Amino acid sequence: MSQTDSRSDTEQLACERAQALRETLNHHAHLYYVLDAPTLPDAEYDKLFQELQALEAAYPQLLTPDSPTQRVLGKVLEGFTPVRHAVAMLSIRTETDTEPTGALNFDQRVRKQLELSDDAPPVEYAAELKFDGLAINLRYVQGLLKQATTRGDGETGEDVTQNIKTIGQIPLRLIGVSAPVIEVRGEVYMRRDDFEALNERQRQAGGKTFVNPRNTAAGAVRQLDPALAAQRPLSFYAYGLGEVQGWDLPATHSGLLDALAKMGLPVCADRTIALGAAGLVAFHQAMGAKRDSLPFDIDGIVYKVNSLALQQRLGFVSREPRWAVAHKYPAQEMLTRLNAIEIQVGRTGKLTPVAKLEPVFVGGTTVSNATLHNVFELRRKGVRVGDQVIVRRAGDVIPEVVGRVVELRASYVPNFHMPRECPACGSAVVREKGGLNHSCSGGLFCPAQRKQALLHFAGRRALDIEGLGDKLVDQLVDSGLVTSLPGLYKLGVAKLSALERMADRSALNLLDSLEKSKQTTLARFLFGLGIRQVGEATAKDLARYFGGIDALMDASVEQLLQVRDVGPIVAQSIQTFFAQAHNREVIEQLRAAGLTWPEGGGAAAETGPQPLLGKTLVLTGTLPTLSRDAAKDLIEAAGGKVSGSVSKKTHYVVAGEEAGSKLDKARELGLTVLDEAGLQALLAGAA
Ligand code: IVH
Repeated sequence: MSQTDSRSDTEQLACERAQALRETLNHHAHLYYVLDAPTLPDAEYDKLFQELQALEAAYPQLLTPDSPTQRVLGKVLEGFTPVRHAVAMLSIRTETDTEPTGALNFDQRVRKQLELSDDAPPVEYAAELKFDGLAINLRYVQGLLKQATTRGDGETGEDVTQNIKTIGQIPLRLIGVSAPVIEVRGEVYMRRDDFEALNERQRQAGGKTFVNPRNTAAGAVRQLDPALAAQRPLSFYAYGLGEVQGWDLPATHSGLLDALAKMGLPVCADRTIALGAAGLVAFHQAMGAKRDSLPFDIDGIVYKVNSLALQQRLGFVSREPRWAVAHKYPAQEMLTRLNAIEIQVGRTGKLTPVAKLEPVFVGGTTVSNATLHNVFELRRKGVRVGDQVIVRRAGDVIPEVVGRVVELRASYVPNFHMPRECPACGSAVVREKGGLNHSCSGGLFCPAQRKQALLHFAGRRALDIEGLGDKLVDQLVDSGLVTSLPGLYKLGVAKLSALERMADRSALNLLDSLEKSKQTTLARFLFGLGIRQVGEATAKDLARYFGGIDALMDASVEQLLQVRDVGPIVAQSIQTFFAQAHNREVIEQLRAAGLTWPEGGGAAAETGPQPLLGKTLVLTGTLPTLSRDAAKDLIEAAGGKVSGSVSKKTHYVVAGEEAGSKLDKARELGLTVLDEAGLQALLAGAA
């Protein structure tokens, strides 16, 4: 009797259903984690997942190793089991010379080794990013993920399968491959936004913060408790192979990466086939320019000879392949001396300890100030004036001091204390009960807060007053010429020209931009007021909903809660702001000074057609007639949102001339791409 016959009908049905569920769930996990383009709502996914869990609980014999329910299971380990690599995990030579010579030297060595004459055509290379994480070997047996190991010393690594399985991007079963053995090698890393969010959670909880994404990723992979590992959001990119049995290799490295992507593995789209040294240099420079805007850290570019046959001819020297090299970028972490700790007072009065550093070149710029976040974190890191500290500047994140080099201090340095009085105005410093932040209680009496309030009001996304920068605001406030927002509009040439270093010409220019700023929008005005919790997006939602400032000023918390994305905390903050007489007075004075914006309508009164309600659009490149801001305004007026980056959540990408990587990403994800005419059709509700 066959096995199938011995099963009851219900069990047979359960088996088929479980199989179908596994396939559906794995397919959607690939769309979600790897292609970043889900087609199934999360709630639906969860429902199917729970159905599979229930089936497996009722019929444990149906459990398979590629079941998505098997990702976050496992016991706390006492240690990791050593595993000998079938094929050694070697490292590659590093060109620390960050200039083009790094690429030229490599190309020359390759050409010499291959005995190419000077007039022979350029060598073809695969160039890709050097991810800053840790190397992992994924062993797939008959297409199933059997074991994941760290690099270790290159010969022997550690079995970290439990933790690696928690990474949603890593397929438990390869698509369309059942070869006896395929080992995939790649880098486990942590995205910057995941890292920042993790640290913010730690900071809020008063826990220890992590130094950088790489160390955090490495720590997570070697975490003995898989439940803890699962809470550290990790990502993965495949970049090569280990042992292979029963699978025909493509002819080139780039072909190999294409094949890995087809198997369902994440492969980074930022890669190219480069011809000769010139091609390598161009890619190194292009990615260097893009480095800050990448969602993860890279520390260089890896060049590989593209032909696998040539790779074999080149072979290895002292355990490093002759066919590959890492070409570095300037470091994003550097050591320097902490000269002093100063206190900075923010717009809302928050006091932040700021490190005054011996200037150091890090992440592409010279840094002399870095944040220390708050006094508790500063203490936890144990940094004191005079220490050698590690400064990190990566992407567009504010430079920060992440730690210090532990060595004996030459002399006693007192611990840092938060001042009891605001260094800018002498008002009492207060700390919310149990909170981490200290703040000045002086409000707009405090010149530091006043300066920040003026700068915020004048900012590009608020009233956009050109020429009103840090230095001028310092002068205006310190000289007593401006004590409040309306004071800006009472300035005249005579008063301004009296300021040091202020030429008549610049005075006139500033008055001109002040005059221009008077024609504004309600959204910009509201954002410019600097109401706590009201960012640009909320200001726009409020403007759209209320249509005018009077309705908003008199709105109750209940009414405010009707506005999209406004919750109780935001509603309360808005209500409190407008309940204060001096704030109403500021608004009256600004209106009296001539500030105007188109009023009327408002979604509360009447809802105009909102063809883009709930839709997210991304703008890229230059449109023929609409400016970026104009397009944004039109989209928002139609109920849509404009986002800065293309993702699975993007509904449309509007592309103009010289559209760049956002357009590539849109195509990759199969999103709808429109030109300006297409956008206009959408706005008119025609599409
Ligand atoms: S290829 C034999 N490609 O950099 C060649 N490595 O020493 C093996 N890395 O430990 C490495 N991005 O962890 C390669 N695109 C990439 C990489 C990469 C990061 C890491 C890898 C390795 C080290 C090279």
